[in-house]
Amino acid sequence: MTNVQIFPDADQLAKAAAEQFITLAKEAIEARGVFTVALAGGTTPQKLYQLLASEPYRDQVDWPRVQVFWGDERCVPPDDPQNNFHKAWKILLKHVPIPEENLHRIPAELTPEQAAEKYEEILLKFFSSLPDQVERQNARFDLVLLGMGDDGHTASLFPGTAPIREMTRWVRALYVDRLAAWRITLTPAILNRAAKIIFLVSGQAKSWALQKVLYGSYHPDSFPAQIIKPLSGDLIWMVDEEAAKLF
Ligand code: 6PG
Repeated sequence: MTNVQIFPDADQLAKAAAEQFITLAKEAIEARGVFTVALAGGTTPQKLYQLLASEPYRDQVDWPRVQVFWGDERCVPPDDPQNNFHKAWKILLKHVPIPEENLHRIPAELTPEQAAEKYEEILLKFFSSLPDQVERQNARFDLVLLGMGDDGHTASLFPGTAPIREMTRWVRALYVDRLAAWRITLTPAILNRAAKIIFLVSGQAKSWALQKVLYGSYHPDSFPAQIIKPLSGDLIWMVDEEAAKLF
């Protein structure tokens, strides 16, 4: 059963997402001393990131125990305004007491294939270094935050692209014709292992794709967000009324 939560507007959506983030971080840190989160790119999560960088949310997170990853990255340098690491750094991460070594950005300054291979190494090294044997074997994020495009893409899993069906490699590079640009993306192989996956979707422009993804026929090659189905974790769609207006 799909868990869809509809909020009056983008601000209420961001507040609810911030409360979820804080709860999940506390639970993970109490249980295992660490909270692993893969951040979403794009603009939708920026309200959430702003809240987490400010009171009363900021001090409710034990930031030194948070390990931050990214669900995808644009193949531009880390100081480029279009870079997802850069966006999260400017809005959230430079404002909280998180050690630099806890920030595991996708090295998009490398060639696309090198960046994908390097990030897979980074993920494997991190998860294999966890103190808890079960966590080492599970190798899963506590939380994955995802956005969705108006074409139903998520992360950089764009319609008609091979990484949608990638169930072995955790990271893939792909050239996105629609954007005329290279992207690096986590694949369903690692995304669907997460303990909790939260989609954040806001605005009327997303309403057609959201209705197709949630209630249309299953066709992930056309609507890649449909490939996101946690193997054993929870999936929550946190959307605002504008995005939900077609259902
Ligand atoms: C990115 C994201 C991408 C994003 C959607 C929605 O790098 O842009 O990973 O998947 O989440 O395109 O973007 P907006 O939130 O800007 O609408």
